[in-house]
Parts: sequence; structure tokens; C-alpha cells
Amino acid sequence: MQGDSFAARLIRWQRRYGRHDLPWQGGDAYRVWLSEVMLQQTQVATVVPYFLRFVERFPTVDALAAATEDEVLALWSGLGYYSRGRNLHRAAQRVMGQFCGQFPEQFEQLQELPGIGRSTAAAICALAYHQPRAILDGNVKRVLARHGGVAGWPGEGRVEAELWTLAEARLPANDVAIYTQALMDMGATLCRRSKPRCQDCPVHSDCAAYLSGRVAEFPAPRPKRLVPERQAVFLLAMHGSDILLEKRPATGIWGGLWSLPQFDTAAQALAYCQRAGIETGEVCELSGFVHTFSHFKLSVHPLLVSAQCKPVQAAEAGSVWLEIGDALQAAIPAPVRQLLLTLSGY
Ligand code: ADE
Repeated sequence: MQGDSFAARLIRWQRRYGRHDLPWQGGDAYRVWLSEVMLQQTQVATVVPYFLRFVERFPTVDALAAATEDEVLALWSGLGYYSRGRNLHRAAQRVMGQFCGQFPEQFEQLQELPGIGRSTAAAICALAYHQPRAILDGNVKRVLARHGGVAGWPGEGRVEAELWTLAEARLPANDVAIYTQALMDMGATLCRRSKPRCQDCPVHSDCAAYLSGRVAEFPAPRPKRLVPERQAVFLLAMHGSDILLEKRPATGIWGGLWSLPQFDTAAQALAYCQRAGIETGEVCELSGFVHTFSHFKLSVHPLLVSAQCKPVQAAEAGSVWLEIGDALQAAIPAPVRQLLLTLSGY
């Protein structure tokens, strides 16, 4: 009804259209906790069978605490993000040791358990204990960013803080468990990232994004990071079908792998050959390529040098001449492998 609060409309919608048959619904804190951790990066449909197997094998927090980590991870296998499974097991042991097997009811105590952040602790408080606590997972961020017209990427501290304020401000005094489930269900079924069902939404009449026809613009995507581009010359010193490889330092990119000797310029590469006693015959610049790392791009310029000899000193201090076939079996970076494959005509 027009004039009803955001929460009142969501609660009414949840009673009629929300999900009521999820196996963790019913208010048992152990089951709520387990489901919330499983649902942190994974969708409901995937989680349900894992949840059922898990509670069958570990029906209580003490059964979980008494298991071995291997047993827990075996049941987690396939859900991904295994630190969640390890944290779950450690948290169960803490509940046994620190809280005499009673799942804590205080928001602050919950947040101290491994794997439980602010939103998960709030979800447990609201769903299991009916405490008025605000949640803010990925779906809820989308709902609130759209409805409140909150600009900016929610991963940014300032934007996230604004969304937390909104989340707190909209909490109802009563029916907090239904309201919390409503926010989750709305985010998953109506206020979807793509193809949102705004016509069916109980709060579209005062949704800032909907009213301005800009639903697709909220929440703003993560800003594209400008990654610096560096240049590198990769020396392909070949003697017959042998190639010179160098072991990279243990730390940094490709740490400990065998790679091609790398320089800033072609002149430095040729000076290296001279120092190492590699008499150079034909020198040929091969076509380059760009390799992308997480924080920079490497523009690679391969320099093929035909070596007239294979001086032993070049094989000292972490370098080695290897037949190309053997080099391909060694621990080499993917772009080096690609270059060697191209060179050897595979
Ligand atoms: N996503 C996170 N928690 C959820 C819950 N309790 N029900 C449905 N989806 C969820």
C-alpha cells in the first residue's frame, strides 16, 4: 500500500511471494549459520544438496567440532572457497571450547568467530534470534543502491558506508526475520542484476533507479583499473635445437620458474650475449605480444639470436641450455611455453 514503509511492503511481499521452504528456515542458529556461510559465494540451488548432506552427517555443532578437518572438507568438496569450510570447522571447535557448545547470541561474539563477518553475524542474529540487525550482502547492496539511488561502486568504502546507513535506517522494529529473508529473496528473484522484474516489485513506487529509468546503472560497476604496461625483451638464444633458459628469483613474477633471459632493451640483450661469450650469428626480432598480470601488462618483444657456440659460462649461475623438447617439460611460464611451441613448429 502507498504510504507504507519500505520494510512493511517487503514483509507483506515476503509472506505472499517469498521463499518459505528452504531447509535452513526454522530458526535453529546452527543451521542458519551453516547455510549463511555456504551461501556467502554460492547460490541457493547449489547450496541445498550440500547443506542437506552436511546436516545429516553433522546434525549439531558438537558433531561438527568432533570431526576431522579432512571429513569436513570432503563434504565441502565442490562448493569452492575452501577457507569457508576450514573456518566453519574452527568456529565449531571455538563454540564448544569457549561457549560450552551454545551457539553465541551476541552480535559481537558472533563476529569474533572465524568466517563470520558483519553481514553474516547480522543475518544469524536476525534470522535465528529475531534481533534487529542490518545485513548487507551483494544482493542487498544492489537492492538498496537502486532503491536509494546510491551512486558509486559498493566496493568503495564511502559507498559501502552509505549503504550500511541505509540498511540500518530501514530496519523494522518487528518481524525482522521475515524482513531479512525478504531482502534476500527480493535480491535473488526480483531485483536481479540483469532482467530485473520491476513491475512485480513491492517498492518500485519510490525506487530512485526505477523512477528515473536508470535501473541498469545501479549499482555502479567496479571501476576499470588502469594497469601500467612495461616493456621487456625476451632473449631466445638458440644453438641448434638448444635454448638458453634462466631460473627466475624465488620471489616476484614467475618466481622460481625457468624463463628466457629478460632485458629492458635489445641492446642490453646483445651486450649480455657478448659478456657471456655467446657469439651471435643472425639476430631476428619476432612479433611481440602482451601478457597481462593482475597489476600490470608486460609487452614482450622476443629477440631470436642464433648462437655460434654454447659457452659453458652462460650455463652457470642459474642458467641452462636445454633441448627445446626438454624445455617444454620444465616449469616454464605459459607465454614462454607458447613462444617455444611457435619456434619449434608444434
Ligand atoms: N542468501 C544468503 N542467505 C540466504 C537465505 N537465508 N536465504 C536465501 N538466500 C540467501
